[in-house]
Amino acid sequence: KMSFLGLFKHKKSSTTTKAKDKVQEPTTSHSKTDLALSESATTRQTWKSGPITAIVIGCGQRGRCYSEYALIRPNELQIVAAADPRATARSYMSRTFGLANDAVFEHWQPLVEKGRIADAAIICTQDQQHLEPCQACKRLGCHVLLEKPMACSPLDCARLVHREWLSEPDQLMVICHVLRYLPAVRKIHQFIRSGQLGRLCHVQHTEPVGYAHFAHSYVRGNWRNEAGSAFSLLTKCCHDVDLICYWMPSRCSRVSSFGSLVHFRPEEKPEGAAERCVDCSVEKDCPYSAVKAYIFPGVWSPAAFVDREACNGDHAKYQQLVEEAVKTGPYGRCVYNCDNDVCDHQVVNMEFDDGATASLTMMAFTEAVCVRSSVFYGTRGELRWNGASYGDTALTMYEFASMDHMHVPVGLGPEGDNQEAPPAGSGRMRGHGSADFFLAQAFVRALLKAKDSAEAGGDTAGSSLAELQRELNDSTLYGHLVAFAAEESRKRGTVVSIGEYIDSVMSRLDEDC
Ligand SMILES: NC(=O)c1ccc[n+]([C@@H]2O[C@H](COP(=O)([O-])OP(=O)(O)OC[C@H]3O[C@@H](n4cnc5c(N)ncnc54)[C@H](O)[C@@H]3O)[C@@H](O)[C@H]2O)c1
Repeated sequence: KMSFLGLFKHKKSSTTTKAKDKVQEPTTSHSKTDLALSESATTRQTWKSGPITAIVIGCGQRGRCYSEYALIRPNELQIVAAADPRATARSYMSRTFGLANDAVFEHWQPLVEKGRIADAAIICTQDQQHLEPCQACKRLGCHVLLEKPMACSPLDCARLVHREWLSEPDQLMVICHVLRYLPAVRKIHQFIRSGQLGRLCHVQHTEPVGYAHFAHSYVRGNWRNEAGSAFSLLTKCCHDVDLICYWMPSRCSRVSSFGSLVHFRPEEKPEGAAERCVDCSVEKDCPYSAVKAYIFPGVWSPAAFVDREACNGDHAKYQQLVEEAVKTGPYGRCVYNCDNDVCDHQVVNMEFDDGATASLTMMAFTEAVCVRSSVFYGTRGELRWNGASYGDTALTMYEFASMDHMHVPVGLGPEGDNQEAPPAGSGRMRGHGSADFFLAQAFVRALLKAKDSAEAGGDTAGSSLAELQRELNDSTLYGHLVAFAAEESRKRGTVVSIGEYIDSVMSRLDEDC
């Protein structure tokens, strides 16, 4: 068994770190340590013939999204059972995937008690409900696709990886850091390592959450307070911390962070505002009005609180349910009177072992909705990403020596990948610039490859699984812990050393045994 501390060995932070002029080899993934892990992997699983089979735990928006891969590629993935306490979610799964009554459950526990009825489990419950079903599925021997964040405390994240998954390197747990699977994101990683930018000195990365999106999810909705989910840097931007760690050629040594909840607070409430938007005299002038947000034509989808599929195409009934929910439900509340406490803006500054730096801005008050943008400042040029998934204009480079502006084309298949564009009409899977599709495809195809190899009596199955497993072992947990460390910096008002932070989490884990 690999030592987790070995994987996470950190140089202590040092302001005297000497920068090297040549581009360093990545240490965040594909390291020798990881390869050793993949070589030791074996396939213990018994595979069922035909497509990869999966159970779905949590059949809300994300669970339905990944399940859709089974509709697009039924020869690759089949959904065989599902669990969700909501009757509408269960009937959607039964209807859509032809599940019999005894394959649909009100809770994940009775489903898991059925034993290993599928190759994989897709776990898309809410943030604080990830750990237990994931542990249970691991013990069954299922491969797991788990929504981010993997857990809501650093100790639970380390517990999940160290106690559960490192002991079985051929059993896959992929965390849904969907953006990692975007062709442009992978191309940036390659480009930095190709040396064309010279030495990377700084990354400036912005996540514009979108004003209506923020009000929906982080003021009125599921991610509004830490008690119910977690801090917004983790729930919204663990993707972005992960991306920065993935791109940078060396490890993060120190973080600092500032941010707060400036706007969605009672003292910001305009004079004359009511408790609910439908009763409000200043609603017309309010950017965050629930009436403007949800009532037809609306600017934000009410899918989180009204199940459109349950209306069977009856648009009038759907509108009526939306109006009723805005009148009486949590999504019709005045944004200045909700039980929210998460930051509406936050910056994170990161320093890396090779002297490079990165800054991340999470911002609620934007027109753009989650269209990330980044600038990569190297000693030979400046690379800009406009947030597009792929195409000829996603990446632009200005090269200092030639004084040329150029596009860096991003195809669907950066080296080593077998990406394919999502088929036209693949509704939900186009989310996150089709990253949802690319992630589901990567997960399912890794399992198919392992299965084919096992059926052919080959011994490469373990390493094909470990290829994805690497993303977890050495970098996904690391990215989560950097996000926790940044939040600790914000709360304590200090610079946090990542090495010391990870050591403290690991010693708490040791004490926990
Ligand atoms: N990867 C991404 O980019 C991304 C984007 C959005 C959300 N998320 C994450 O995905 C997860 C799910 O988000 P969502 O928007 O689909 O939420 P959702 O509320 O629509 O879905 C969660 C579902 O879990 C069900 N559930 C609750 N208790 C259960 C139980 N005991 N057994 C089985 N099911 C149970 C709920 O009824 C609900 O249908 C969250 O952790 C969220 O942070 C990730």
